[in-house]
Amino acid sequence: MAKNTLSFVCQNCGAAYNRWQGKCDACGEWNTLAEEDSTGNVPVSIRSKRKGRTFALESLSGKSHDAPRLSSGMTELDRVTGGGFVRGSVLLVGGDPGIGKSTLLTQATSMMARAGHRAVYISGEEAVAQVRLRAERLGLANAPVQLASETSVEDIVSTLSEGTVPRLIVIDSIQTMWTDTVESAPGTVTQVRASAQALIRFAKKTGAAIILVGHVTKDGQIAGPRVVEHMVDAVLSFEGEGSQQFRILRAVKNRFGPTDEIGVFEMTGLGLREVSNPSELFLSERDLGSPGTAVFAGIEGTRPVLVELQALVAPTSLGTPRRAVVGWDPSRLSMVLAVLEAHCGVKLSGHDVYLNVAGGLRIQEPAADLAAAAALVSSLVNAPLPTDAVYFGEISLSGAVRPVAQTSARLKEAAKLGFGRAVLPESARGDAGDAGLTLNSVGGLTTLVAEIAARGTPRGNHQAQRDAEPVEKNATPARFRREKG
Ligand code: TYD
Ligand code: MG
Repeated sequence: MAKNTLSFVCQNCGAAYNRWQGKCDACGEWNTLAEEDSTGNVPVSIRSKRKGRTFALESLSGKSHDAPRLSSGMTELDRVTGGGFVRGSVLLVGGDPGIGKSTLLTQATSMMARAGHRAVYISGEEAVAQVRLRAERLGLANAPVQLASETSVEDIVSTLSEGTVPRLIVIDSIQTMWTDTVESAPGTVTQVRASAQALIRFAKKTGAAIILVGHVTKDGQIAGPRVVEHMVDAVLSFEGEGSQQFRILRAVKNRFGPTDEIGVFEMTGLGLREVSNPSELFLSERDLGSPGTAVFAGIEGTRPVLVELQALVAPTSLGTPRRAVVGWDPSRLSMVLAVLEAHCGVKLSGHDVYLNVAGGLRIQEPAADLAAAAALVSSLVNAPLPTDAVYFGEISLSGAVRPVAQTSARLKEAAKLGFGRAVLPESARGDAGDAGLTLNSVGGLTTLVAEIAARGTPRGNHQAQRDAEPVEKNATPARFRREKG
């Protein structure tokens, strides 16, 4: 029997120590160790005497009844989960406070309940009246959702064990739950882990799908135990800029589906609206005819998404120039800048460089290299790029432009949205198909830089440049000429 059942558990990563220390050796965070009872307080009688029971082993080819997946009724949510909720699975949804997690899940439970399934919403954070108020605002007050404001996992499990098995249970949030089996305070790693374990056990036993809401810390990690991320079947992250209406649901981990799909929503006065064509949304407020913007034809999961990249290259007043990037990998930006300097003679060491992906989207594809390079050079030489062109292609360290996957899907989407030409890797021409776009293929970055530079004049001579070459505003599809607001 253990003499000392107390230990110090890091509230960030869950590492346990037998004495206090200021810094967690496992994750490097300071002041995150808290004293907890880490044994789980299982009674000694059970621990020592319980004999393992035997169970039947089954074959892979056996038959399972019931549709394994259940559509949520929201296409964008289904896209991210990989086609609906899997029976007996547990999902963790993380996101900043106020991003719309409760709104999303209220909508999902209501849709399920309306479709005739038993759907339960347990809020540990808000009173029943508050949840009702939100449902009323969303126009969902008449949906037959079963609602409760509870935090005890044992009470929740016994209540839900009665009657028909719920198809969907939302627990908002896992950090507010607590279980009798451990003695630590609610919100501590041990409590969160034990509560999650109990709920996961319930899901596996009954076949109900459970969604756990998880808080995130300042730096975007799901607060408390990373261990919960390992325990659940899927981790979804709900992201967006507070000031903007777009919200993006992204699968970070998914045992039953892809992890590169995104679901796009718009927060309106009547809750979250699904956006089935994100390109239109990301391009709706384009700054036409300004230098430094390029449209990237990207792929998110199985879906092509067009998005504007915005660059600003300005002479620096600092010893070390600034490089700031939002929505793209900073090391990718450094690489593109280095290639521009080394192979294309573009001197950027005396300039601050800012790069932004419009609409709060986070791009992970290297295919964005070419669009980023075009936007950067366009800003440097102060030459707007053609407004009806899209860009994609990966840049190698040698300055060559390399092909990327799904060329024809990218081109089709661009054609659908009214674009007239595409700047793409030379070697991708063969996969282009017939989308009806003018193809401008480039083998090396130097070619593209020369083309853009030929259009431009140095900064400060902007008016002369405008006079010399009027921006072809009318070459742009009418839908992108929408006014702001
Ligand atoms: P909420 O779902 O409570 O966020 P979370 O659970 O992630 O903390 O959403 C809160 C925000 O959403 C709040 O700032 C108001 C806004 N909102 C709308 O704009 N429209 C709506 O219909 C609703 C319900 C909320
Ligand atoms: Mg909430």
